[in-house]
Amino acid sequence: MAVPLLDLTPQHDVIMPELTRALEEVTRSGKFILGPYVEAFEQQLAAYCGVKHAIGVTSGTDALLVAMMAMGIGPGDEVITTPFTFFCTAGCVTRLGAKPVFVDINPRTYNIEVEDIPGAVTRATKAIIPVHLFGLSANMGPIMNIAQEHGLKVIEDAAQAIGARYEGQHVGSIGDCGTLSFYPSKNLAGLGDAGAVVTNDDDLADRIRRLRNHGTKDGWHYEDVGGNFRLSALQAAALSVKLPHLAGYIEKRRAHAERYGRHLEELPVGTPFEAPHRHHVFNQYTIRCHGKSREPLRSHLNARQIGNRIYYPVPLHRQPCYADLQYAKGSLPLAEEAADLVLSLPVFPEMTREQQDEVIAAIREFFAAD
Ligand SMILES: Cc1ncc(COP(=O)(O)O)c(C=O)c1O
Repeated sequence: MAVPLLDLTPQHDVIMPELTRALEEVTRSGKFILGPYVEAFEQQLAAYCGVKHAIGVTSGTDALLVAMMAMGIGPGDEVITTPFTFFCTAGCVTRLGAKPVFVDINPRTYNIEVEDIPGAVTRATKAIIPVHLFGLSANMGPIMNIAQEHGLKVIEDAAQAIGARYEGQHVGSIGDCGTLSFYPSKNLAGLGDAGAVVTNDDDLADRIRRLRNHGTKDGWHYEDVGGNFRLSALQAAALSVKLPHLAGYIEKRRAHAERYGRHLEELPVGTPFEAPHRHHVFNQYTIRCHGKSREPLRSHLNARQIGNRIYYPVPLHRQPCYADLQYAKGSLPLAEEAADLVLSLPVFPEMTREQQDEVIAAIREFFAAD
């Protein structure tokens, strides 16, 4: 039996009547740009994340970009982040003319190593972007302390982690702001590209609202130079239907992860670590292979049509576009090692027990023959 890495069809089948009704309502209303459907979703999202403001934008990438624009980050500034993340976390820093400064990761959580952050702070540092990778919160307590000590902003890249918690607090609500993605592979999956910024800061929210609409509030006066980063009303309506189901989706992901953990325990692979006081939402279930086993394991899974993917094969400090930053091979060894060893397995909520058994059996078979 083939098992896809992700299949949204069963999720959408369950809510199809609600979803089509919502999309039909927006279509009939003709209110496609901002307006009541976007506002309703923003209120619902803010309540879910436990923040005062949610601002819907076009994508998780634009959420990062517009948040940094609103903080005035630009040429001459440095932003500290992890090299083990999706490209845009650093790409947005570069697009604004600022410089990403990469800090190595913790090998168990795959998140930024907080002990290495103070050594990367310079007079030019303006912000830290911790990424809650794979659905596990970064170590936010120490990060907030470092930020406070040095007067830095904190933008939580929570693209993969909506619903995750750190000491009971929702990710995205701890730093100055959090950025979310509703790209279809994310836990709250849009019907295309969509994203949001969440924050408790009234002024920041105000600026982001302006900047996502070219820098204007009233449509005539442009206080800033912004862009078109507006969330589509059709996406907002679909996301409003899906948000009440998110807690259930997360519980299913966590149950799959727990079952993988039990069945893979005695095999020579590392399973995900749920650090204390953090609630993992398993956007990815990522194992860590030993030695040189990853490529043969991948080939074995591919031959059995078991979905799998490497997030991420090349850490950002080693990407060709960052050659000018001059990070030598081996300069951030733990991120480089993770890039060589990790492998993500299917963990979507609607994965059946039979599908998961197939994944587990294929991995067991690989190691039995080894
Ligand atoms: C960690 C991280 N940051 C940012 C993004 C960007 O989100 P989007 O694809 O919605 O632009 C993604 C997802 O693609 C991501 O995984």
